[in-house]
Amino acid sequence: VGDLTEADLKGKKVFVRADLNVPLDDNQKITDDTRIRAAVPTIKFLIEKGAKVILSSHLGRPKGVTPKFSLAPLVPRLSELLGLQVVKAEDSIGPEVEKLVASLPDGGVLLLENVRFYKEEEKNDPEHAKKLASVADLFVNDAFGTAHRAHASTEGVTKFLRPSVAGFLLQKELDYLVGAVSNPKKPFAAIVGGSKVSSKIGVIESLLEKVDYLILGGGMIFTFYKAQGISVGSSLVEEDKLELATSLIAKAKAKGVSLLLPTDVVIADKFAPDANSKIVPASSIPDGWMGLDIGPDSIKTFNDALDTTQTIIWNGPMGVFEFDKFAVGTEAIAKKLAELSGKGVTTIIGGGDSVAAVEKVGVASVMSHISTGGGASLELLEGKELPGVLALDEAVPVPV
Ligand code: 3PG
Repeated sequence: VGDLTEADLKGKKVFVRADLNVPLDDNQKITDDTRIRAAVPTIKFLIEKGAKVILSSHLGRPKGVTPKFSLAPLVPRLSELLGLQVVKAEDSIGPEVEKLVASLPDGGVLLLENVRFYKEEEKNDPEHAKKLASVADLFVNDAFGTAHRAHASTEGVTKFLRPSVAGFLLQKELDYLVGAVSNPKKPFAAIVGGSKVSSKIGVIESLLEKVDYLILGGGMIFTFYKAQGISVGSSLVEEDKLELATSLIAKAKAKGVSLLLPTDVVIADKFAPDANSKIVPASSIPDGWMGLDIGPDSIKTFNDALDTTQTIIWNGPMGVFEFDKFAVGTEAIAKKLAELSGKGVTTIIGGGDSVAAVEKVGVASVMSHISTGGGASLELLEGKELPGVLALDEAVPVPV
């Protein structure tokens, strides 16, 4: 955690902001604990150094105090992973929190209630940030997934707590998503998928400055096809992005980037898991049919290109992988990256659906890095600076 040593931490009250925004089912059971596990190394380190850990997070997007967004269901799993009983506060500020902090032993962990139960959190109200900070001596931000939000517990508290440093998770995310991407081992490929080009424009434009290969898949490809005058049947198209697609193709050419679009697609007669399907060349999608996955020739072409690379970043699925029938392309890419990771290629999975895909295939553990951020990793890849990072004393991305 930064350069903090035992001397800095023993007996100190450390306000730790983590992103414990995990999915819960209707019975308040955690369905994916990745973010909790990712937060553990920093918390363990602080425990071992004898700090008093005041742990905070948001969960969901509550409007005011909402019991179903309480952090209480996280306590058992967190306690199990840390090997100690985590104490839970009913609030994130106020007398009860002050009392619990006062009785917290060195190496103890107090979990505050959802910081978003106060509207002042998202408003980044300075008075509120001051109250959050008032119980602590210093700040460790490990909430990468929320680092793109300038909120009281991510940015506001830094005005009152010094030092304010990055935790291990935040630092690792920056090392990969900034360090490895801005200073990659070449050749460098980006694979960008997902249904809409509109949500990936910034990422594509930014990566076009850095990559040797830009591989596109997912629903967004049909906007690129249509922009080139290829008929796409009833596939998803963003009509207002046709010009943009044309300009991105031109930009790739001007930059000498190999832009690879799928050459064949798996088409369906309806948007459903049990749709009839067939594989056709990308230029031959009949009327009434829609493309839902990339085809085998495309997978081969993409894999051949990836075989020549040393760094790969992947964001967004190749097709509708929630439907098994149309998950083949996405799974093939996940397997390819796993294979290349084993051969020393740096493989970075940049948040959201592509993370779900590598987990579904069971190859998450072999990747160089899997981001815990959705919006935050997209913003970083777009080249934006994150307020939660900027506010820290030191969070220098180190190229890996
Ligand atoms: C996320 O899940 O992307 C983060 O926890 C941030 O959540 P938010 O989009 O509600 O700010």
